[in-house]
Amino acid sequence: MPRSGAERSRALPASPETIAQAGRLLAAGGLVAFPTETVYGLGADATNSDAIARLYQVKGRPARNPLIVHVADIAEARRIGAFDARAERLTAKFWPGPLTLVLERAPTCRVVPAASAGLSTIALRLPAHDVARAVIAAANTPVAAPSANRSGRVSPTDAAAVVAEFGDALDLVIDGGPSPVGIESTVLSLVGTPRLLRPGFVTVEAIEECIGKIEIGAEAGPLLAPGGLASHYAPELPLRLNARETRPGEAFIAFGMIAPVDAAATLSAKGDLIEAAATLYATLRSVDRKPYRAIAVAPVPETGIGVAINDRLRRAAAPRSQE
Ligand code: TXA
Ligand code: MG
Repeated sequence: MPRSGAERSRALPASPETIAQAGRLLAAGGLVAFPTETVYGLGADATNSDAIARLYQVKGRPARNPLIVHVADIAEARRIGAFDARAERLTAKFWPGPLTLVLERAPTCRVVPAASAGLSTIALRLPAHDVARAVIAAANTPVAAPSANRSGRVSPTDAAAVVAEFGDALDLVIDGGPSPVGIESTVLSLVGTPRLLRPGFVTVEAIEECIGKIEIGAEAGPLLAPGGLASHYAPELPLRLNARETRPGEAFIAFGMIAPVDAAATLSAKGDLIEAAATLYATLRSVDRKPYRAIAVAPVPETGIGVAINDRLRRAAAPRSQE
């Protein structure tokens, strides 16, 4: 896909023209970053093994870590994954939206095995962002899209962060403004007993209200998903959690009442968890630099979307050796 360096190194605002261009590039095997309601995704045609190989390579993602396949409508999802009654109930309630379902592949599934790391299962998501859906519809193919960051790093919630992450390595970055939810989708496996693989905006309580009791946490086994690696979503600087005061060299990230006068930033001055999720990654990125030598974050309550915020913070603070 010959494109000039100048064109490739910046984001273009979402418009009917750039969305059509994104669709053409994806259909031709290109890599296109686009906004979703959770975080920006780095998309490739899920039915094209060359495009998927390039996606893994550019992202630096281990081949054993499966991708989420994004669709523009539920009919396409049903061709890819084996929907059961639970999937029907959940998608009726939460789609389009930040809930990813892991299902057995349907016999009609055209997604290449490499996109799901050779597993018999597949992760599916119908995003609630108009630009995301328009891009996928324009591509006229299911789109595999991990978060548009290099493996192990903080997910981007705006187009500038994607450009900072990848420079001109992508064919196109579509700018649709900041991602409103701010952290990645909830991942729920419906293979056998329902099991939460990654907490997110759609809470366990909301899921259980819809389909009854679910198990929590990835099963021990060969599948080490990115969300299952101890260190993930990590800034460059070391991170200290549940902090209440600023130590020398630290950038303090406040939340609600835990806000020292010398705090560098706040997730939410009024202690609002939804606002904190929306600002989390941009805040981490903004203080991940000199003159700071470390980042400290105030305690965040373990309720509602706070569960997902704390999950990401714990991974960001985990020892980096596993990356
Ligand atoms: O909000 C999101 O989900 C974003 C936006 C771009 O849609 N995408 C995202 O993708 O976070 P990624 O690749 O960064 O995370 C995919 C998650 C991982 O935890 C992965 O292990 C899990 O989905 N996953 C994918 N396929 C799976 C499968 N077949 N079985 C179990 N887990 C799977
Ligand atoms: Mg990711």
